[in-house]
Amino acid sequence: MSRTTSRTALLAALGLITATGATATVIGATTAGAATPGCRVDYQIASQWDAGFGANVTVTNTGDPLSSWNLEWTFAGNQKVTQSWSTTLTQSGANVSAKNASYNGSLGTGGSTSFGFNASYSGTNAIPTSFTLNGVACNGATPPTTPPTTPPTTTPPPAGSKADNPYAGAKVYVNPEWSAHAAAEPGGSRVSNQPTGVWLDRIAAIEGSSSSMGLRAHLDEALKQKGSGELVVQLVIYDLPGRDCSALASNGELGPTEIDKYKTQYIDPIAAILGDAKYAGLRIVTTVEIDSLPNLVTNVSGRDTAVANCDTMKANGNYVKGVGYALAKFGAIKNVYNYIDAGHHGWLGWDDNLGPSAEMFKTAATAEGSTLANVHGFIVNTANYNTLKEDNFKIDDTVNGVSVRQSKWVDWNRYVDELSYAQGMRDKLVSIGFDSKIGMLIDTSRNGWGGTARPTGPGATTSVDTYVNGGKYDRRIHTGNWCNQSGAGLGERPKAAPAAGIDAYVWMKPPGESDGSSKEIPNNEGKGFDRMCDPTYTGNVRNGNNPSGALPDAPVSGKWFSAQFQELMKNAYPAL
Ligand code: GLC
Repeated sequence: MSRTTSRTALLAALGLITATGATATVIGATTAGAATPGCRVDYQIASQWDAGFGANVTVTNTGDPLSSWNLEWTFAGNQKVTQSWSTTLTQSGANVSAKNASYNGSLGTGGSTSFGFNASYSGTNAIPTSFTLNGVACNGATPPTTPPTTPPTTTPPPAGSKADNPYAGAKVYVNPEWSAHAAAEPGGSRVSNQPTGVWLDRIAAIEGSSSSMGLRAHLDEALKQKGSGELVVQLVIYDLPGRDCSALASNGELGPTEIDKYKTQYIDPIAAILGDAKYAGLRIVTTVEIDSLPNLVTNVSGRDTAVANCDTMKANGNYVKGVGYALAKFGAIKNVYNYIDAGHHGWLGWDDNLGPSAEMFKTAATAEGSTLANVHGFIVNTANYNTLKEDNFKIDDTVNGVSVRQSKWVDWNRYVDELSYAQGMRDKLVSIGFDSKIGMLIDTSRNGWGGTARPTGPGATTSVDTYVNGGKYDRRIHTGNWCNQSGAGLGERPKAAPAAGIDAYVWMKPPGESDGSSKEIPNNEGKGFDRMCDPTYTGNVRNGNNPSGALPDAPVSGKWFSAQFQELMKNAYPAL
C-alpha cells in the first residue's frame, strides 16, 4: 500500500510536538512517578488522495491505568470522517470523539492502542494540533476536572468478523519475487516496494519450486511483513478448465472438461493452506478467475464475436461450476475475502453486456453450494489498460447536439472510464441481490497513460470525434486491444478506499509481466500464440478489425518483459 503524502504538520511552534512528514506526535507533560494523567498521540496520515485521506492514530496512556478512553480533537478544516475502525467514532461539526471499541478500552500506564479512519476533505488537510484523552489535554495544559470512571470491559473483538473493507488500515503484501524483478531494472526501485498480486496460474504454483515461491512461502513471508499491524495478501485464482476461451495467450493447463481436477488438485489444496490457523491473522483477498464468466455472455453463438471454445464452456457449465466451487470453499474461511472478476468497461460497458454479465456472476455465485454471502466484492480492469478517469469528456456531453456515446471511440458504450464503470456495475450487482456492502477493486497497474502525449484539456468541438479523440487519455487504437499496449504507463499507486464504493486501487497484474508473446514460442504451460500480441496483426471482430497496438518482441504471458516495464515507468501517471 502506498503511504505517501505531501502534508507537513505545522506544529513545530509547540515545543512538545514533533512532526515528521505527515506524522504529528503530541506528547503529554507528565512527570516521572505516574499517577499523573497524561497521554501521547501519534496522528499519522497514511494515505491521501483528491478528496479524502486515511489516518492511523496511536494513543499512549502515560498516566494512571484506564478502563475506557475517549480521545477528542477538533479539525481545523472541513474534514469529515466517513469510516473508522477499532474505535467508536462520532463527529459533530469539527469536533471528533473517538471512544474505545468493546475490546480495546483497557489502557495501562504506558499502554498504547491504535485506531484508524477515512475522511473526506477539501482544501488543506491540516493535522489537528491538540488532543484530549478523557478530558486531559495531551499537551498537558488542562488537568481533568473529574477522574474518568467507567467500568472495565473485557469483551474480545467479535470472533471471525470480516472487515467491511479489508484494505482499510492495512498494509498490502509486497511479492518479493516481483519486487526483485522490478528492482533489478534501471529506475525500478521507484516502484519495487509496491504491492502486486500473486498469481496462482497453475497447479504447480501452489507448491512452488526451488526457484519460485509457493503459496505457503508467500504466506509465511506475509506474516513477516505484517508485524503487529493488519496486512492484505492478494491472490489471483486463475486455472479454470478451458481457460481464456476467447483468446490464446493465456490458455491454461486444464482442458475444457477437467473440472474435477480443478476442484481436487487446484482449489482444494489452496483452500487447505488458506484455512491453516497459522494464517488466520492475514486478510487474504482472492480475485476469482479473470476473464472467464463474461465470455459466456459476450463471446458465444448469437453474438458476432462468438468463439467456439466459449460456446463449449457455456454448454458444459465448467466456468460456472468452477467459480461457484472456489467461492464456496474460500468463503468458508473466515479471513478470506472473495472478489469476482467483472471485466472492464471496454468489454462489459454496453447495456447488452452489463446486465447479463451481472446475472451470470449471480448464477456462478450461487452454484456448487455457494451463496451470495461468499462474495465480498468484484475486481475490474484486471491486467487491462482502461483509463481510471477521463477528465476531458463525460458520457453525457454532447458536441453540436451529438452525444459522446455516438463517437467512434465510445461507440454507444454507457461508460467512458473504469471508475464510473466500477461504480455503475456495483449498483447493478446490488440491484440484483448482491450485498449492498460489496466493494470494488480497480486494477490500476497499467492504466496511467501519462508521458508527453497526454492531453492537457478537452479536444476541439469540431465534431464529437475530434472532441473525444483530442481529449482522451487512453491512447490505444481500440478499447478491445489488451496485449502489451504501446504507450501505456503505470497508473494510480495502490491505495485503500479511494472513492465511493471502491475498496482499493490495486496492482493485481504485476507490471512488467507480459500479456502474451508476439510470435509463437513453444512452452509447457498451455500458453498459445494470440495474434493480438503481434504488432503486425490487423485485428479481428473483437477489436473492430484494428491494429493490435502491441509492443514487439514480447515473451510468453507472465514472463518478465523488460522493455514493457521501462515503457510503463516512462509513461506513469501520476508520474514517478
Ligand atoms: C497472464 C499469464 C499468467 C501470469 C499473469 C500475471 O495472465 O497467463 O501466467 O501469471 O498474466 O502476469
